[in-house]
Amino acid sequence: MKNRFDKDAVTWDDLPRRVNLAKAVVKNIIPYLKGDEKVLEFGCGTGLVGINTAPYVKELTGIDTSAKMVEKFNQKAQKLNINAKAMVKDIFEISEKYDIVISSMTMHHIKDISLLSDKLSEITNEAFLADLVKEDGTFHTRGNEDVAHFGFSSEELNKYFGSWDIDYKIIHTITKHRDFPVFLLHIKK
Ligand SMILES: C[S@@+](CC[C@H](N)C(=O)[O-])C[C@H]1O[C@@H](n2cnc3c(N)ncnc32)[C@H](O)[C@@H]1O
Repeated sequence: MKNRFDKDAVTWDDLPRRVNLAKAVVKNIIPYLKGDEKVLEFGCGTGLVGINTAPYVKELTGIDTSAKMVEKFNQKAQKLNINAKAMVKDIFEISEKYDIVISSMTMHHIKDISLLSDKLSEITNEAFLADLVKEDGTFHTRGNEDVAHFGFSSEELNKYFGSWDIDYKIIHTITKHRDFPVFLLHIKK
């Protein structure tokens, strides 16, 4: 399948609702950061979350399966003189260890969340995962062909991340033709 995110990368940051969601995610993660962490962001996109988190940590690496998203991330980081770097990789290819893993709006594109939980267990002791609360399948107005989950219920998340300590809260609402709440899941070993 052609990577739809390659096509979207150029204009990704033009939608204020994306920028506002990312701001909410960053605002809710910052209080937990000490400044000395090595952080991985998977599904980093253009860096709306990662580039704005990087000043609060020691090192931030973004990964994304879309080369165009990665290109945009690196251009922005360089222009803003922010110490963050992105590379083209799938989260399941990562074996290096990180103090913290973060991600926003990417989990719903990943089929097997139990496998994701296992992968995160292998590479970190702490993660922040933001995504849509269970929705009716109408969030992606251009179609659901690369959407693996219509958001997540807190019960599902408890099941997938059962081996972690879990803190779940609603941090934002995206308003389109209706309201779509967004959760932040903070998981720790
Ligand atoms: C909806 S976008 C979110 C981008 C960014 N986090 C933001 O909030 O603006 C989802 C991103 O996840 C990436 N992605 C999807 N599956 C992935 C995987 N298995 N590993 C790494 N990145 C992935 C896509 O290429 C896309 O850029």
